[in-house]
Amino acid sequence: MSQGVCPWWLGYLLACPLRRLFQNPEEIFRPFLREGMTVLDVGCAMGFFTLPLAGLVGPNGRVIAVDMQERMIRSLKKRATKAALDSRIETRICSSGGLGIDDLACQIDLAVAFAVVHEVPTPASLFAEIRPSLKADGKFLIAEPTGHVHADQFEETVRIAEQAGFCIVERPDIRRSRSVLLRPIERGGKS
Ligand SMILES: C[S@@+](CC[C@H](N)C(=O)[O-])C[C@H]1O[C@@H](n2cnc3c(N)ncnc32)[C@H](O)[C@@H]1O
Repeated sequence: MSQGVCPWWLGYLLACPLRRLFQNPEEIFRPFLREGMTVLDVGCAMGFFTLPLAGLVGPNGRVIAVDMQERMIRSLKKRATKAALDSRIETRICSSGGLGIDDLACQIDLAVAFAVVHEVPTPASLFAEIRPSLKADGKFLIAEPTGHVHADQFEETVRIAEQAGFCIVERPDIRRSRSVLLRPIERGGKS
């Protein structure tokens, strides 16, 4: 069940550098990324992960950062410019009804929804929108905060993702998180 969207001012806390002590973005994402890749950061907020993701994909890579709150995106843009990473980061403000990523079909190497799915009223719709954006060998990482999301609720999220056409690749160990790395099941049904 959706727990409501986090208020914009919490974005400052989420982007606090101290968070790196227990969730280091480079350590979390390096195993899944190479230079030149394209990443979709869903519910990016003020960019705690977006900026390091842009660093990991390098000058030929791209991060598309989507959030429904204009204030989150405004702050992310400022941070990206200050870090001289703005040329690698495309920001988008979406509506509660959808991400608006139809134009990204088969372009994404890694989609990330970190601490987001429990805020979304219909995860099935979110997953159905993300799936066509992925390349055939693309991956989708979902991580949910252990403090907010019970194990049963997380397994329900995984089940919904499977119904939306994903299968489990692995369960990465991310501190204070329940997480799963998924890949799209080949069109035609082969898993
Ligand atoms: C708890 S924050 C997590 C932010 C970031 N991923 C992190 O881990 O630092 C959740 C973010 O998801 C955004 N969000 C919630 N529902 C969304 C939706 N349906 N589409 C896009 N963004 C959404 C919120 O506005 C908020 O910025």
